[in-house]
Amino acid sequence: MEARRRIAAVTGAGSGIGAATAVVLAGQGWRVACFDRDGDAAAAVARRIGSDHLARRVDVADERDVTAAFTELAASGSIEGLATCAGILDVTQFMELTPEIFRRIYDVNVIGTFLSIREAAKHMAEGARICTVASVAGLRGGGVGGTGAYAASKGAVVALSKNAARSLAEKKISVNCVAPGPIETPMLESVWRFPGVQQRALSMVPQGRAGRPEEVAETIAWLLSPAASYIDGATLTVDGGLVMP
Ligand SMILES: NC(=O)c1ccc[n+]([C@@H]2O[C@H](COP(=O)([O-])OP(=O)(O)OC[C@H]3O[C@@H](n4cnc5c(N)ncnc54)[C@H](O)[C@@H]3O)[C@@H](O)[C@H]2O)c1
Repeated sequence: MEARRRIAAVTGAGSGIGAATAVVLAGQGWRVACFDRDGDAAAAVARRIGSDHLARRVDVADERDVTAAFTELAASGSIEGLATCAGILDVTQFMELTPEIFRRIYDVNVIGTFLSIREAAKHMAEGARICTVASVAGLRGGGVGGTGAYAASKGAVVALSKNAARSLAEKKISVNCVAPGPIETPMLESVWRFPGVQQRALSMVPQGRAGRPEEVAETIAWLLSPAASYIDGATLTVDGGLVMP
C-alpha cells in the first residue's frame, strides 16, 4: 500500500494567495486540504491540482466549522502543515469605522487565524509547521488602501503568530508569518479600482510592481518545509522592498 502522504491544510484556498499556495504545495508532494468559505471555489482548486486532494467548505470564523474540518482531516492522515490564507479586506475610512465593521474583520482575520492554528495544532505531531498571513498593513499601520480595522487585524495576526510560536514550541510545532505587500489577486483588484490607489501603492514599492500570488505561495511553502527548520516566530515580508527595517 502507498505510504500516506503528509497533509497540508490551506485556508482561503479558493482564490488568490491561498489557491497559489495549494498549487505550489501539491507540486512539492503534499496532499492538500483546500478549505474556503466558498466551497465550490475550494473544490475547483482541489480538482485543478490533482485527484488526491481534498476540499471542504469551511468558515474560519465559525468555531464548530473549523473544529469539525480539522477533526475530519486528521482522520484521513497526518496534518504536518497549515497555511492560514483566509482573510478579508476593509477600506472604510477611519472616522466612518464602527465596532460592527471592526468585529467582522477581526472575526475572520484574527479569530479565524487563531481557530485554524488551535484546531490544527490539536492534531499535529512534532515537526509540523504553520504559516500565517498578515500584511504590510499590519506592520506599517495601513497598507494599500487598507484602513484601521484591516491594518489592526493584521498587526494582531503578527502578534498572534509570535505567541503561537512560543506556545506551540513545547509541542515542537513551528509558527511563522508572511506579510505580503500588494499582490495581484481579486482582493487587490477591489481596492485598485479607486482612483490613484494603484499608482500611490506602487510608488512605495522599490521594485515598482505588484507581486504575484505565486511569489507569496513559494515563500509560504518554503516556511512549511524542513529547509526552514530553524526559523520560528518570524514575520517575513514579501513586498518588493516596501517595508524595510
Ligand atoms: N492581495 C494582497 O495584496 C494582499 C496583501 C497583503 C495580505 N494579503 C492577505 O492574504 C490573504 C489572502 O488574500 P488574497 O489576496 O488571496 O484574497 P482573495 O480575496 O483572492 O482570497 C481570499 C480567500 O479567502 C476566503 N475567505 C474569506 N473569508 C473566509 C472565511 N471566513 N472562511 C474561509 N475562507 C474565507 C475567500 O473566499 C477567498 O477565497 C488575506 O489574508 C489577505 O489579507 C493580501
